[in-house]
Amino acid sequence: MSRIAYVNGAYVPHNQASVHIEDRGYQFADGVYEVWAVRNGRLFDSEGHFRRLSRSLGELEIATPMADQSLSHVLREVVRKNRVKNGLVYLQITRGVAPRDHAFPKGIVPSIVITSKSMNTQLADKTAKIGIAVATMKDERWARCDIKSVSLLPNILAKQAAYEKGALEAWMVDDEGLITEGASSNAWIVTKEGVLTTRSLSSDILGGITRERVLALAAQRQLKVDERAFSASEACEAREAFITSAINMVTPVIKLDNQAIGEGKPGPLASALRKDYLQSAAT
Ligand code: PDD
Repeated sequence: MSRIAYVNGAYVPHNQASVHIEDRGYQFADGVYEVWAVRNGRLFDSEGHFRRLSRSLGELEIATPMADQSLSHVLREVVRKNRVKNGLVYLQITRGVAPRDHAFPKGIVPSIVITSKSMNTQLADKTAKIGIAVATMKDERWARCDIKSVSLLPNILAKQAAYEKGALEAWMVDDEGLITEGASSNAWIVTKEGVLTTRSLSSDILGGITRERVLALAAQRQLKVDERAFSASEACEAREAFITSAINMVTPVIKLDNQAIGEGKPGPLASALRKDYLQSAAT
């Protein structure tokens, strides 16, 4: 079955989908994106992603190309046309096409691209059962990490460097030696005292929609939660660690910079929260 993409108002074969060479996303990374998890054919945490999308667009003064309801319809159509049951849908909106000039061009129309793909949930579950290794990297990003911008160069460099060290995620460290977040996920620990800890929201991190969901699930379990920054050494001494994102959901971390966390295997809280997450996505 051939894949279908949505590009500026048309559903087109994925391998023929294209945008103009003077699209500002291509030339300046002048755009934003969103990734929704698709579970059982449905977009999970849909409203949260729409809320963040509209905020990202607003912060960059990019016009909203269509109403949420119409956009939601197109997202679901792309999922349906690609017969994705479990996977993701990716949306990218850039400022649009114009002769190259740094300042915003007048009368520009935003470009919009949507793709969807299936994910191997069995492999993801297997990875979560084993847990992943993470490596720390210097956080070299800009000062507005709360905007879900397509400008991801420091993130991809950190992720690649982590891969080269045999780790599946990079945890980025700020100038104070505190972890901000993962290259494409939020970072969590369960402290020695059993407190679920993740950095508080600010322009230092992306406000993860999965993070928000996991905080709600933690409240349901009446877990102790502290939204504050932690260091790599605190993480190494923690009982557990994990990451969250629409793609990884809740994935346990068992090693940080080659040092085992807790007992060096997925912890009970991370595993329970992953189960809760999957359950809430299924209903
Ligand atoms: N990444 N932090 C960063 C830097 C991210 O890129 C992401 C998501 C998250 C988690 O956000 P959410 O829970 O809303 O997915 C945190 C997406 C999945 C990506 O770039 O593919």
